Amino acid sequence: MVTLYPTTQQDLLRKFSIHNFVSFLISEMNYLTQPLLNSEELEILITNLDKEKLFWEDGKQTAGKHAAKVKNNLQLKRDSDLSKKFSRLITKKILSNELIKSFAVPKRVHGTIFSKSTKGMKYGRHIDNAYMSSGRADLSFTIFLSSEDKYEGGALSIENLNSEEKFKLSAGEIIIYPSTYLHSVEEVLDGERLVFIGWIESYVKSIEEREYLFDLDAAARSLLAKYGRSNEVDLIFKSYSNLLRRLGS
Ligand SMILES: [Fe+2]
Repeated sequence: MVTLYPTTQQDLLRKFSIHNFVSFLISEMNYLTQPLLNSEELEILITNLDKEKLFWEDGKQTAGKHAAKVKNNLQLKRDSDLSKKFSRLITKKILSNELIKSFAVPKRVHGTIFSKSTKGMKYGRHIDNAYMSSGRADLSFTIFLSSEDKYEGGALSIENLNSEEKFKLSAGEIIIYPSTYLHSVEEVLDGERLVFIGWIESYVKSIEEREYLFDLDAAARSLLAKYGRSNEVDLIFKSYSNLLRRLGS
């Protein structure tokens, strides 16, 4: 079990940080949730996706052999103009988010898909493929596009060795979690669940090593915000960069 921060470190970071570097969700599991799309962006997206009737296809087509057996959803064709245009825009937002950059150390976002689940649809327990034609899956993400009140059921469930957590986030929020965790989407009991999913290939494939870097980066940024530039801050940033060079690939 990976614990992101022991209590003393949590307290330390909460106390010293004055920016959103400590707004991430600390948990037994190693994951990050974060608001990403604003209401204006969501409205444009939903309006366009609602208009798109022709290009939704069976989700089994993009699943691995084992996952296909438990997958039941609809996906917007990746080669449709709408999918390409909005995938590009959302990917850009993901890659320019400071907290996500620090948490995931992303090399590329890939395999993105708009997914729709209506009543009776679900995606059973599965593990994502390690390698896809688009890249290596180190981290998986889901951006919730529908408001929670637009559908019943449909929570994303993530399992670790001895724990399970369920997520049904507000519209516009992203959850990023290691692709090494088993996960599933519970059956949608009513309404429509619209999400944008994809994978991140990280410069650092190990969860543990990303955690070292995240700690150093968070500590340096917090010290910088509180006290300004100092030799100590320079040394931590130096260690961060050199560790990234050593661990990255
Ligand atoms: Fe998955």
